[in-house]
Amino acid sequence: MNTPSSILAAIPRRLHVQPDHPLTITRKLIESRFPGYKAHNTLFPIVTTGQNFDSLGFPLDHVGRSKTDTYYLNKDTVLRTHTSAHQADTFRKNESEGYLISADVYRRDAIDRSHYPVFHQMEGARTWDRQQAEKEGKTLAQIIWDDVSKIPKHDVTVEDLNPTIHAERNPLQTTHSSEEVEAIAAHLKRSLEDMVVTIFNAAKSAADASATTSTPDEPLKVRWVEAYFPFTSPSWELEVFWQGDWLEVLGCGVVSQPILNNASMPHRVGWAFGIGLERIAMLLYSIPDIRLFWSKDARFLSQFSEQKPIRRFVPFSKYPACFKDVSFWLRSSSSAAGGAAATHPPASSTIPGAVQTQNQVPPAAPTPPAFHENDVMEIAREVCGDLVEDVRLTDEFEHPKTSRRSMCYRINYRSLERTLTNEETNEMHERLRTLLEERLGVELR
Ligand code: PHE
Repeated sequence: MNTPSSILAAIPRRLHVQPDHPLTITRKLIESRFPGYKAHNTLFPIVTTGQNFDSLGFPLDHVGRSKTDTYYLNKDTVLRTHTSAHQADTFRKNESEGYLISADVYRRDAIDRSHYPVFHQMEGARTWDRQQAEKEGKTLAQIIWDDVSKIPKHDVTVEDLNPTIHAERNPLQTTHSSEEVEAIAAHLKRSLEDMVVTIFNAAKSAADASATTSTPDEPLKVRWVEAYFPFTSPSWELEVFWQGDWLEVLGCGVVSQPILNNASMPHRVGWAFGIGLERIAMLLYSIPDIRLFWSKDARFLSQFSEQKPIRRFVPFSKYPACFKDVSFWLRSSSSAAGGAAATHPPASSTIPGAVQTQNQVPPAAPTPPAFHENDVMEIAREVCGDLVEDVRLTDEFEHPKTSRRSMCYRINYRSLERTLTNEETNEMHERLRTLLEERLGVELR
C-alpha cells in the first residue's frame, strides 16, 4: 500500500460528471462527435493489476508497474493508471460497436501547473465483426471503408508522413491483413481528426470572443506520428499545432488481438484511443493551472455552464508565491532514479500531457530500491495538499571524494484562493523537511 489518504479522498469527487464542471463540458463536447458510441462514466477506479496491466500485455518488468509510478492498495490492486484498464471488460460485454469510457486516473508524478496525481482520461474504441462481414458477403475492409465515408469531412491540413505499417517501428499484427489495417487506420484517423478539429475550433472561438484585439488567424494544423503502446499495433499519436507549439493530444492504435481474443471476441477487430481531458479543457478555456479543476471556489466554478457558449476562463487575482529550498544528501548507497529522467515528458510544458507517457516507455530493467523523485513529490502533496504549485530540482551534485549525491529542490508554495501567511508556509516547509528525512532516509543540509 503506497496510497495516501489525500489521494483516496479524490475518489468521490468525480469531477467529469459534475454538472457545469469544465471537465464535464469537455467530455460532452468530445462525446458529441461519437454518436452511437456507448458512454461509460462511472466505472470504479480500484482495479486489479490484471485489468490495469496484464490484460493489456504489459510485460512484468514494465516501469508502469513500479511503486514509484503507480498507487497500490495491495500487491494486486491499484488505482487505475489509465482508462485502458477497462478495455478487456468492456469488449467482453460487447454492448455496442463503439464505446467511450471517461474516468479519473491516478499516477504518482511530478508537481507543476500541468501535472496532478489525479486526472481524467477518455478512452474510445470501435470494433467490427468479421462474421458479420462474411454474412453480408463483403470483406471486413469494405465494411470499414463504408463507415469511413460516413465521418464528417474537415478542411484542416493533416501531415501524415509515415506509412500506416512499418515492419520494425509499427508492425502489423499476424492475424490482420494490411488492407484491414489501412481501413481501420483511416477510420481511426478521420474520427479523431473530426474530434480535435471540433475542439480546437471551439477553443478558437472562445479565445476570439474575449480578445480585445483580433488575434492573427493561424490555420489549425495537425499531424500523425508513430507511437508505441503495449496494447496496440500499429500505434500513433495525434499532435496539434497550437499557439506556436506541437502538442501531443492523444494516443491510439489498432487493438492488440489477444485482448479481444481473451475477451471472447476473437472475431472482432478495431481501434482504441486515449485522451487526457484536463489538457483539452485547459486549451478550450485557457485554464492556467491544473489544480483549478479541484477548486470549490465560486470564482472558478461560476465561469462554466453547459448551457452557455464556451468562453475563456478569467483568472482571479494571482496570490503571491513563496519559494523555499530544501537540500539533502542521499543515503550513500542509493543512486537517483526515475523522475524527470525517463518516464515523463518534460514537466516544463505549460499544458499537461494528454497522454502521460507511462505506457509508452519500452520496458526497463528492474532498478534496485533507490531515491525516486516521485517520493519527494508525494511527500510535498501530503504535507501541502493543493498549496504547492510546483516542485523543481534546482541543483544536483556528487561529492568528488565521498561520491555522495546531494539534491536541492525548490518548492513553490502558493494558494489559488488566498495569500498564505509566513507562519503557515514555514510550518509546512518544516514538516516537509522532517518527513523527507524520516521517510526517505536522506540527510538534510
Ligand atoms: N492508455 C494510454 C495512456 O494512458 C492511451 C491509449 C489508449 C493508447 C488506447 C492507445 C489506445 O497513455
